[in-house]
Amino acid sequence: LTRFFTPKLLAGKNILITAGATMEMLDPVRGITNLSSGKMGFALAQAATRMGATVTLVYGHHQVTPPEVSQACFAGSAGEMYQTVMQHIANQDVFIAVAAVADYRPQQISEQKLKKSESTLTLALIKNKDILADIASLPNPPYCVGFAAESEQILEHARQKRLAKRIPMIVANHANSAMGSDHNTVTIIDDQAETPLQADEKINIAFEILCHLHARLDPH
Ligand code: CTP
Ligand code: CA
Repeated sequence: LTRFFTPKLLAGKNILITAGATMEMLDPVRGITNLSSGKMGFALAQAATRMGATVTLVYGHHQVTPPEVSQACFAGSAGEMYQTVMQHIANQDVFIAVAAVADYRPQQISEQKLKKSESTLTLALIKNKDILADIASLPNPPYCVGFAAESEQILEHARQKRLAKRIPMIVANHANSAMGSDHNTVTIIDDQAETPLQADEKINIAFEILCHLHARLDPH
C-alpha cells in the first residue's frame, strides 16, 4: 500500500483518534507535559481519512500541523481530553488512543502565577482517569487500539497493558526514539498475533497499522 494509490478500506467506518500531549496546568502560564509531538496520531488520522474513514481527532499540545479530518477538537489537559472523547464516542466503530495523556495532575491550579520562596517545592498530584480503559469498558465499546510507548521491556509492558485495559490491540514502540521523530519502529500486538513492522516513516507505519486493523475488523 502506498501513499499514491490508497484503497478505501475504511469507508463507512467512524474512527476517533487521540493525539499529542496533554498539559496539566500549575498556574496560568506553567504546566506539566511530555515530549509527544502529535506526529504518530496525526499520521494515523491522515491515513485513516485517505482510506475513507470519517475521522474525529481529539488532540492536545503538538509540534506539527494537525491534518484535515472530518472533525477536530483541541483538548489541552487530560480532564478535557477525557470529556471531549466521551462526548464524541457514540457511533464510533474504532477508538485509537495515541495521545500521551498525563497520569497525574496537580491537586490545585493556582489562579495567580506561583512565586518562588523556599529552596524546595513539593507538588501534590492526583491520578487522572484512564480514557482508553474507560472507553474499553463501556457496554458496547468501539474496537479499541492502544499505544504503549515504553523505555524498557517494551513487549512485556505492552502485552500487560493490552490485557489490563482489556483492549483487542496495542501498538508497542520505544518511547525515547519515537517521540518527536518522523520515524518509528513498532510491533502490533493483538489477540491473534504479535506483528513486528519494519522501521519506517510514521505515515507508512500508520497505513500498515490501519491495514492490520481493517483485517481484524472485517476478516474474510
Ligand atoms: N491512556 C489514556 N488515558 C490515560 C492514560 C493513558 O487513554 N489517562 C492511553 C494512551 O493514549 C495509550 C495507552 O493508554 O494508548 C497506554 O498509555 P501508557 O501511558 O503507555 O500506559 P498507562 O496505562 O498510563 O501506564 P504507565 O504510564 O504506568 O506505563
Ligand atoms: Ca501513562
